[in-house]
Amino acid sequence: MYNFPVTKTTNPKARPQDESKLAFGKVFTDHMFIMNYTEGKGWHDARIEPYRKLELDPSAMVFHYGQEMFEGLKAYKGKDGKTRLFRPEMNAKRTNDTNKRLCIPELPVELFVEACKAVVKVDEDWIPTAPGTSLYIRPFIIATDEFLGVAPSSTYLFIIILSPSGAYYASGLAPVGIWIEDDYVRAVKGGMGFAKTGGNYAASLAAQVKAHDEGYSQVLWLDGVERKYIEEVGAMNIFFKIDGKIVTPMLNGSILPGITRNSVIEVCKSWGYEVEERRISVEELLDAQKSGKLEECFGTGTAAVISPVGKLRYKDDVMLINNNTIGEVSQKLYDTITGIQWGECEDKFNWTITL
Ligand code: PLP
Ligand code: COI
Repeated sequence: MYNFPVTKTTNPKARPQDESKLAFGKVFTDHMFIMNYTEGKGWHDARIEPYRKLELDPSAMVFHYGQEMFEGLKAYKGKDGKTRLFRPEMNAKRTNDTNKRLCIPELPVELFVEACKAVVKVDEDWIPTAPGTSLYIRPFIIATDEFLGVAPSSTYLFIIILSPSGAYYASGLAPVGIWIEDDYVRAVKGGMGFAKTGGNYAASLAAQVKAHDEGYSQVLWLDGVERKYIEEVGAMNIFFKIDGKIVTPMLNGSILPGITRNSVIEVCKSWGYEVEERRISVEELLDAQKSGKLEECFGTGTAAVISPVGKLRYKDDVMLINNNTIGEVSQKLYDTITGIQWGECEDKFNWTITL
């Protein structure tokens, strides 16, 4: 059991006026969790403090070589008044997978989960309740040594901030259009693609700008070697329904192992669908679309939840999927996953924990 000291703010912020207009990640609550790491001492001084600006030396290593990581999960307020977190231990385990890759010290899984619970508890009355809204939880770690040499830092900060949020895409649950990128690549096997670290997102921006300029919401990445196989989207994993089967790219080291991805696979299997985790080439998608077998496409992610994809553009080909409408499986998955998260469906997988 952890018992983190709490310093309450003396200057609480104004709450969002209209929860139905909440965007993603723009408003932050009154408190944050913060903890230090010092080599030889380990993680120490875990505490909850008023949300504040950080003071860091300009030479802090995170600013120069990007030694940092982040996670993303949500707290949901149910109609029963209970606050639930969805599979937070998966985020804790993924944190350690990321940390190992980036030479950041690992954290006890229980400490990560208890820290999330404790800070959410302090700001529990910030959790929005309008349909589709939740409290986004953003844990992150930064390297703080004041040093310009390229080496792992010996000091770090682990911080958790909270953001009452609405839908990730301004369009809500409406189908999005996605640009299949054939020039830039996001990650290669042996790189950091499986890790949740800022560098992967920095690497994605140029292609994202290009996709936006063309009128598409996000980029669908191809493998970095042959630029032939589907990997994942900017902030979500990707699924297809091809000829009745649910198909998603296998985890190959360059894709983020999404927690929503894992949950969708379990749910689809429990419904009796055949689920294939394998390589999917763009050619296969183009053929499936032409022959009418590409029945649905959707992205999965904590922020994006289940996001139906209505249009995929690859070079000069535009693939319209399910007539640019929400597919049956996409809708059912959205209802089931959010139903479990809000405590409105039976949680037969035991995925949620209450505060
Ligand atoms: N892929 C990328 C690149 C992401 O940023 C995310 C979002 O976290 C995901 C996939 C989905 O992961 P999860 O379902 O764990 O949120
Ligand atoms: C999440 O879904 O939690 C993410 O981290 C996506 C983020 C890049 C917006």
